Amino acid sequence: MFRQARWNEPIIFNLGKAGREGYTLPEFEGDVKEVVGDLCSLIPENLQRKNAPGLPELSEPEVVRHFIRLSEMNYSVDSGLYPLGSCTMKYNPKINEFLAGLPELAMLHPYQDESTVQGILEILYRLERWLAEITGTAEVCLQPSAGAHGEFLGVCIMRAYHKLKGESEKRKDVLIPDSAHGTNPASAAMAGFNVVVIPSGEDGCINLEALKTAVSDRTAGLMLTNPNTIGIFEENIEEIAKIIHDAGGLLYYDGANLNPILCKVRPGDMGFDIVHINIHKTFGTPHGGGGPGAGPIGVTEKLAKFMPVPRIVFDGKRFSLDYDRPYSIGKIRCFYGNIAVLLKAYAYILSLGQEGLREAAEVSVLNANYVMRKLKNVESLALPYNSEKPRKHECVFSAKPLKNKTGVSALNIAKRLLDYGLHAPTIYFPLIVEEALMIEPTETVEKEELDRFIEAMREICKEAHENPERILKAPHNTAVQRLDEVRASHPQTMALSWRMYQKRLAAKNP
Ligand SMILES: Cc1ncc(COP(=O)(O)O)c(C=O)c1O
Repeated sequence: MFRQARWNEPIIFNLGKAGREGYTLPEFEGDVKEVVGDLCSLIPENLQRKNAPGLPELSEPEVVRHFIRLSEMNYSVDSGLYPLGSCTMKYNPKINEFLAGLPELAMLHPYQDESTVQGILEILYRLERWLAEITGTAEVCLQPSAGAHGEFLGVCIMRAYHKLKGESEKRKDVLIPDSAHGTNPASAAMAGFNVVVIPSGEDGCINLEALKTAVSDRTAGLMLTNPNTIGIFEENIEEIAKIIHDAGGLLYYDGANLNPILCKVRPGDMGFDIVHINIHKTFGTPHGGGGPGAGPIGVTEKLAKFMPVPRIVFDGKRFSLDYDRPYSIGKIRCFYGNIAVLLKAYAYILSLGQEGLREAAEVSVLNANYVMRKLKNVESLALPYNSEKPRKHECVFSAKPLKNKTGVSALNIAKRLLDYGLHAPTIYFPLIVEEALMIEPTETVEKEELDRFIEAMREICKEAHENPERILKAPHNTAVQRLDEVRASHPQTMALSWRMYQKRLAAKNP
């Protein structure tokens, strides 16, 4: 069984010694003040620091070893399977990191004159065109920093569209299925809409009768994830689009689950008007951990004029940034987007090409269905919503039968999987499945690794009947054992900075 490295590693502030150095600066001749001026005088006195900041003083090897030891206590997408459903955590080719880190790109400054950044503008312009082609939309904006940010931009555009038609006072309802990700209702509410929840039917898809009843002249739009969070493709999508459009609403596509349909079908062709793409899931950047992402949106022709500024334009000779868009909703963020993440997407698409992207989609579906078929026979797991129907990129099981028989819940299974050296799947989402285990293996996992996961799941279900206590106390072999989840995320126990940590320490030992 897997064992994670364990180090009794202090925090970096408790390492090193006064006077140790781990950096080398180039020789500088002359007076700093003469070159940059007296910067201190520009800072108001009450904001000036009186003492040195109290940074740790370490040699280079000490710093490297500290962080290597910490990384050895961790699990990452480079360590093995990472089956978080809806989060699409796949292995990402290192060449993309290398290209995005090239100094010619990484050292560019957003305030540089346009004439000196023609290369990056061309890359971003091309990426916009590729994403428009992939999603079947007319124009793409690369600026949003995450899926939820793209959603917010999308619903702001929805609002602007109805406002221009003089209907924004009336069209206040955004319809969202109960299987949707929590960011959908949050984005709609932030843009000032009322959220109307539409129940799913017995097949796991949106209930058409309930949808027809909810649609009215108050409908601003419908936000839909397709394939949905059960992993099932909404086959009635054309009818759904007609219902919404006939009522004067817009159709919004949550593209977090774009991976399985890449170069197979396009949201634009299904009838969607606004599409967001989770670049950090589908196109070569890991998702999660609070790291930077990118959530570009694509829109149809009639909505293009509402896109945020600046737009990247090309007059046949030069690329430039166009701010002169009278109908634009304005700015959505500073500068032009998370460029490093976008560069990785550019490299990813360029290296795979259309055929490669299609193959990635096919293998991700194959892998999810392989896991689904193999785990379907495990007695104490249930596969809700039409267990005969193929899934797309993910499958959602319920651990409710196991919990009823043994007390072992989805959370306990997730914890025990860590002892096998496997990352846990997403749990307790979507909300419509009790004790949900949402598994998304993606295309970057070999059959042997899938079999290891399936075998571990079987073993755990068996162990739950034989020795439930052992599972209830799992994990046993990780660097950190079972955490008190409420305490771990409580603001009063979290110390997110050195200063906060010191304050807590001083309060404990006055
Ligand atoms: C279905 C779905 N929609 C939207 C989002 C939001 O994306 P982000 O986390 O990038 O804000 C997620 C995130 O995992 C998701 O799974």
